[in-house]
Amino acid sequence: MNLLRDSSVALVHQLMDQMQENASVGVAVCPPSVYLHDVGAALRGSSIALGAQNVYHAAEGAYTGEVSCGMLLDLGCQYVILGHSERRAIFGESDADVNQKLHAVLKSGLKPIVCIGETLAQREAGETQKVVRSQCTHSLAGLSPEQMAETVLAYEPVWAIGTGKTATPAQAEEVHADIRDLLSTIFGKAVADKVVIQYGGSVKADNAHELLSQPNIDGALVGGAALKADSFLAIVQAAGKIQK
Ligand code: PGA
Repeated sequence: MNLLRDSSVALVHQLMDQMQENASVGVAVCPPSVYLHDVGAALRGSSIALGAQNVYHAAEGAYTGEVSCGMLLDLGCQYVILGHSERRAIFGESDADVNQKLHAVLKSGLKPIVCIGETLAQREAGETQKVVRSQCTHSLAGLSPEQMAETVLAYEPVWAIGTGKTATPAQAEEVHADIRDLLSTIFGKAVADKVVIQYGGSVKADNAHELLSQPNIDGALVGGAALKADSFLAIVQAAGKIQK
């Protein structure tokens, strides 16, 4: 819930003007739903994709205040973030809710970005692996291998989001590798190898390269540093320099 309409549109104009095309880096912006139309219009003709921050699972009906997959598609969205830790912590979304949304999103043709991650208390209690594995198992329940291959995951340790505290590359890699291992057990190695697993939580221009260089970190889900064109572009540039 950052930036109003004019600053959102101005930001994407700056990104479009200054972003050097790099075929190996896919970029999407996910503004608040009320600005999807304006930001989408500004992005027309660019390689930057449009995504939403949330969606409701039902196709239509009496769900005051909610937005459907069809509505997001109507606005030109390709992606939608599901189960961000703020949705889980502030708005009470459970793994079962995320799973219900995920099935609706995949059926609609939108590409989901499913967030998982432990709290500080859980990390300090040595529960990171258990928590993340449980979130993955329940949030991804019932997906076919083909659907899993279409699903982006974002590992976002809650203690690193908006706090300026980043997981070290080694801490993040350890969890990413474990997630891929779990995916391999459930969906097979070929699918697990294909799944994009992003890291999120205080990604910035000066730590993006090291994080993204880790073998199992395939991308970044960026909050604060995406609100300014300079830092956004620096992260895209850092990603473009990595050969995997
Ligand atoms: P941050 O946010 O980059 O500001 O930590 C990440 C997020 O909200 O997903």
